[in-house]
Amino acid sequence: MSYAIVGFGAVGQALARAFARKNIGVTVASRQPPEALAPQARAIGPTVVAKSLREALEADTIILAVPFGEHREVAKGLPSWNGKTVIDAMNAFPVPEELDSLPSSAFVAKSFTGAKFVKGFNHLIAATLAADPVVEGGHRVVFLSSDDEDATAPVAALAKQLGFAPVKLGRLNEGGALVHARGRIWGRLIFQDLFKKEQ
Ligand SMILES: NC(=O)c1ccc[n+]([C@@H]2O[C@H](COP(=O)([O-])OP(=O)(O)OC[C@H]3O[C@@H](n4cnc5c(N)ncnc54)[C@H](OP(=O)(O)O)[C@@H]3O)[C@@H](O)[C@H]2O)c1
Repeated sequence: MSYAIVGFGAVGQALARAFARKNIGVTVASRQPPEALAPQARAIGPTVVAKSLREALEADTIILAVPFGEHREVAKGLPSWNGKTVIDAMNAFPVPEELDSLPSSAFVAKSFTGAKFVKGFNHLIAATLAADPVVEGGHRVVFLSSDDEDATAPVAALAKQLGFAPVKLGRLNEGGALVHARGRIWGRLIFQDLFKKEQ
């Protein structure tokens, strides 16, 4: 399984730290050339490798860590998303009217037709996400939601590998509503930094 993080700002770097902590390889990319990202990637850890956006999209699993409005540009990077897993770590806030009351991730998923699509790693501020998720007595919780039950299992396995405790919330418009904003109100689980004793 190969992994890429698209977007190397606060959230992209926080997630890169989680991969580096466990010595798991991950490609990082943004619109900047890889040389521009390489020093920061190296500073995070040797398993974090900056590549071009095109090369990053060759990974099996791609984590979206770009501003919400940029997801369409990322989606245009591949002619087909069949066979890919996409993890949406983005938030839309305040929620733009164009979503027409769809959960933001359901809206994003429309641009990634064919991909196994999971919302996750979006509910914590970047500084918290960057911290070691294994603390005395527990593992930091990340919430996963998807309209495709089969898509969630490998993302849950990745979350565990990274040291988090994944909690599956179910479909995007059901349990997933708790990790989406509505209008100008954050979902009830957003910013809740929770821990589980067992992963
Ligand atoms: N910050 C938080 O605490 C936090 C917490 C949870 C979720 N989120 C969500 O996570 C997402 C990222 O937030 P952030 O705070 O990490 O933002 P950020 O610090 O502004 O970083 C955004 C990154 O995306 C890249 N980018 C922008 N447009 C791109 C495109 N079309 N293709 C490839 N890369 C692109 C930017 O690089 P270039 O402009 O150089 O390409 C930059 O590396 C947002 O959706 C946000 O709502 C943020």
